This record gives sequence, C-alpha cells and structure tokens, in this order.
Amino acid sequence: MSESKQKGKSTVPSGDDNKVRAVDPAPTDAEPRATSDKPSEDMTKKTIQGKNATEGPSDGKPSVAKMTMKEAKALLEMNPALKSEMAGLDGDKAVEAMQKMSIADLLTGLSASGKNQKDMASYKFWQTQPVTRFDEQSQVAEDGPIKIIDPTKVSKEPDALLDGFEWTTLDLTDEKELRELWDLLTYHYVEDDDAMFRFRYSESFLHWALMSPGWQKQWHVGVRASKSRKLVASITGVPTELNVRGQQLKVIEINFLCIHKKLRSKRLTPVLIKEITRRCYLSGIYQAIYTAGIVLPTPVSSCRFYHRPLDWLKLYEVGFSPLPHGSTKARQITKNRLPSSTSTPGLRPMEVKDVDAVHNLLKRYLERFNLNQAFTRDEVEHWLVHKDQPGSEQVVWSYVVEDAETHKITDFFSFYNLESTVIQHPKYDAIRAAYLYYYATETAFAEKEKGLKERLLMLMNDALILAKLANFDVFNALTLLDNPLFLEQLKFGAGDGQLHYYLFNYRTSPIAGGVNEKNLPDEKKRGGVGMVML
Ligand SMILES: CC(C)(COP(=O)(O)OP(=O)(O)OC[C@H]1O[C@@H](n2cnc3c(N)ncnc32)[C@H](O)[C@@H]1OP(=O)(O)O)[C@@H](O)C(=O)NCCC(=O)NCCS
Repeated sequence: MSESKQKGKSTVPSGDDNKVRAVDPAPTDAEPRATSDKPSEDMTKKTIQGKNATEGPSDGKPSVAKMTMKEAKALLEMNPALKSEMAGLDGDKAVEAMQKMSIADLLTGLSASGKNQKDMASYKFWQTQPVTRFDEQSQVAEDGPIKIIDPTKVSKEPDALLDGFEWTTLDLTDEKELRELWDLLTYHYVEDDDAMFRFRYSESFLHWALMSPGWQKQWHVGVRASKSRKLVASITGVPTELNVRGQQLKVIEINFLCIHKKLRSKRLTPVLIKEITRRCYLSGIYQAIYTAGIVLPTPVSSCRFYHRPLDWLKLYEVGFSPLPHGSTKARQITKNRLPSSTSTPGLRPMEVKDVDAVHNLLKRYLERFNLNQAFTRDEVEHWLVHKDQPGSEQVVWSYVVEDAETHKITDFFSFYNLESTVIQHPKYDAIRAAYLYYYATETAFAEKEKGLKERLLMLMNDALILAKLANFDVFNALTLLDNPLFLEQLKFGAGDGQLHYYLFNYRTSPIAGGVNEKNLPDEKKRGGVGMVML
C-alpha cells in the first residue's frame, strides 16, 4: 500500500538500515501509546520510487554518464525526493551520483541513496525468497513458478518469535478481534512520508476486505504480546485467481502487513511473511500478489497515484493539496467545481440482480490486460454490491448503466471508501477518500476502441459527481486499467506516491503500469495492470 498526496511539496526520504537490532523493551505489558505522531525513521514511507514505471527494465539503462550540471539540475526539478537527498552533496558529487543512475530511474523518482539504492545482496531477507531478482528481470525467458513446492516438506510448525510474543490466528467474525485489528492499523499502519496522514480502514472495510469468497481464518495472522495479550503485528491474505499473460494462477492476495511502531526494525517482517507463506503452502497455494510503496525485488509493474480534489479547500487546509504557484484559492475552488447531477442516461446503483451482467462485462473487459483478476460470480457480488446492514458503514459504491430499450448493462463503475487520519490537525481529523475500483464498458470492444475515451470521460465524471454527493473530499486513482485515458482531462493531479505490484514465486517479464519514462499517464502504456488491490 502507499499513502500518497498531491505532489507539490518535496518529500524527504529517510534511510533504512535494516540492521538487526537488539530487542528494545517492547510493548509487552505497558499499554503502547496509541499514537506516536512523530515521524519515526522506520515509519517514513518512501513514495516516489518507480523502478519499473515503464515497460522494460531500467537495467541495461540509457546512459546518463555525460550529463551536465545544467541537465542534472533540470532532472532534479522533476524528482523532488531525489533533490532533497542530493541537498547535502556538493554539485560535482551530486552529478557523479546521478551519472550512475538510469534516466528512467531519475525521472520516475528512484532515489540515490538509502533503500532504493540497495542491490540484491543487501535485501537480506528477500534474496532468500522465490522472487525475481533485479538482475534477471530483463531476461525472463518463460513465465512460471520460480520454485516448485513440495507440501510434504513444508514445516508443520511456525518459526519461533521474539521472546515475549506469540502467534495468533485472528477470528474476524468476532467483533472484539476485528476491533483489535482495526486498532493496530488505525494507529500503526501506512503513513505518507511526512507523517501527515495515516490510512484509517473502517471495521466494515476490514470485514469486506478480509472475508471475501474462499477466505480462511488461518490466513489472518497476528502476533500478540504474551503477557498483555495485545495485538502487535498482522499480516493477512485472501485467496483469488489471477490471469497473468493468459495463465490462470491461484494466489493469495497479501495485505495489512503491520507492525506496532515500538516493534519496528527487529526483523519481524520476514518472520510474518514466512509464516503466511508456510500456511499458504500447506493449503496448496504457492503464489501470491502484493503491492507496496517501496521498492523490493522486483516490481512486476509500477503505477502512479493521481488525486482529483472534490473539496479543494479542505485538502489545501490539511496540507494534502498545494496551492499551485500563481493560482489563488478561489481559482482552485472554481477549477475543481463539479456539476450537481450526473449526465449518463440509464445510470443507477448496482443491485444483486445485475451481478451476472456485470460479471460477464467485467471478465471480458479485464481480459484486455496482461495481469488481471479472474473474478467468479460470487466475487463480483461480494466486492461490488453494497448491502445495507445495520451498524455497518458503506464501503463500496457501484453503479451500472442500463440501456433503456434493451435493458442490457452496457457499463459499470465502482469506488470504495478509505479514510485517512489527518495527524495532529486543529480543524480536521480525517480525509474521506474515494478510490476508483473496477469499471468496464462495452465501448472498449469497439474497433480501435472507438468512443472508449469519450465514454470513460463521461462515466468517470459522473463517478466524481457521485463521490462528491456522498461527501468524499478527494477521488484517488492509479494509472492502471484505462485510467490514462481520462486522468489529466478530468483534473486529477499527480500524487507523490507510486504503487509497485509484486508476484511471489512467479516469474514474468515487466508489465506496463500506465505511465511513460516521465512517470506521466500514457495511453500507449495501458494494457498492463487489470487488478486493483485495496
Ligand atoms: C512495513 C513494516 C511492517 C516493516 O517493518 P520494519 O520493522 O520496518 O522491518 P523489519 O525489521 O521487520 O523487516 C525488514 C525487512 O522487511 C522488508 N520489508 C519492509 N517493508 C516491507 C513491505 N512493505 N513488504 C515486504 N517486505 C518489507 C525489508 O525489505 C527488510 O527485508 P530485507 O532485509 O530483505 O530488505 C512496518 O514498517 C510497518 O508496519 N509500517 C506501516 C505499515 C506498512 O507500511 N505496511 C506495509 C504496507 S505495503
């Protein structure tokens, strides 16, 4: 996951030494402070990295060895994260460091030092795992598993944890345990680089995200402090099927990797990852998909976050959206104003009766992408249809377009609600963000995609209007699916976050993430990612 905000301020990447450190007094008995709002070194998530923002590897790179000081400065202007890292170096040293990088890396925000510069050997854990290495990524001869797993050789027991901690399997049907996970995530999950915002998934969201068709309790893994019973870490998975370049794979979708702030940098992450891997192997699932804002070996694709302000003034006041140079608040408010009603004829909320039609349309639509989720009918119902339940908040909003004459469903779109806590703000405590989820349209199948762009502009503008009416402050989208066709025209602004997609124990060559060498949405870079992860 990656918390991103509109670009405008430079972000300050931190170092991450990943050394094994002695175990500090951890939050065993003492109730850990709910929130330490101070940006911790480990907590600071680097955002703009994008090693693979373009189709094709960045190794075997176009050379920048002859770059002049002037060119180097121009490149730095396009890469605020790198610029702030270079700030401590004198001019010659900075140019020298940059000459060692590829143009793609410079443009897409790979930074010069710290985590991003690590080579394979410094990923002490990841180099032992069945994942594509950085240096082999350009030479994938054949798609397939990296390692064949013999389930009889998989340990029946989990690895030992640090003294004072023990494994737990969360029972999320128990409201108390769901609340414990919510609590851990609400105070310790993903923040942006400047520790201004932190994801705040609602309990209804966790229920929806973690109990999809085929879910099993054993994939909701936690760690507790033995004495206090406090939940201090989590890693979860839900099963699904993927299509990767025509191959159907049973995978686990990994999410909600989280470690209490007081337990960071103690190499607990590898233990959590190994434990969920062991549990998956034992039940015959040998591949996984996951996303992260940081670069690990090796992204199969990298998308960029875009943000469309719905309540620009609030976003400005909380520090999410910048006031562009030369503009005024009034102008920004006017620029982002939306009509009060939608314009697509036949648009209405999706109901259970639409599931078959949407399933059929979505399946055909997603097959246009190299990496896509192979939805079952039950999954479509689970992920897309909102069912009012007392005491639970709405998580997903889905709309269909029904043709007035044929009653055929010709289009649909959806978005979900994911709030972020605004850390230490006198006026606001949360931002309500709508995230663009799945959509599909029959116009995608017209010859040469005739009419697709215009149709999406209309549908997505309606999505913005409906999100505004549902009181969202911002509408977020990545550069996946056909999004490059409308993001800029609909006034989405570039975010400072990149989302990297990873496959575990599966090798395939890089997949387009909808952005070009300048890390900007590019219609020609579509056709890659057809999977939206929460
Ligand atoms: C991400 C988080 C669990 C990492 O914990 P940590 O205490 O910093 O790291 P640990 O000492 O436990 O482990 C370090 C190892 O985990 C890897 N790692 C760190 N973040 C990772 C991630 N998001 N996904 C996979 N591996 C990750 C590191 O690369 C390192 O392995 P390496 O030696 O091969 O490079 C923790 O910072 C956290 O809870 N952050 C907030 C929530 C979050 O960002 N979750 C991830 C969402 S993608």
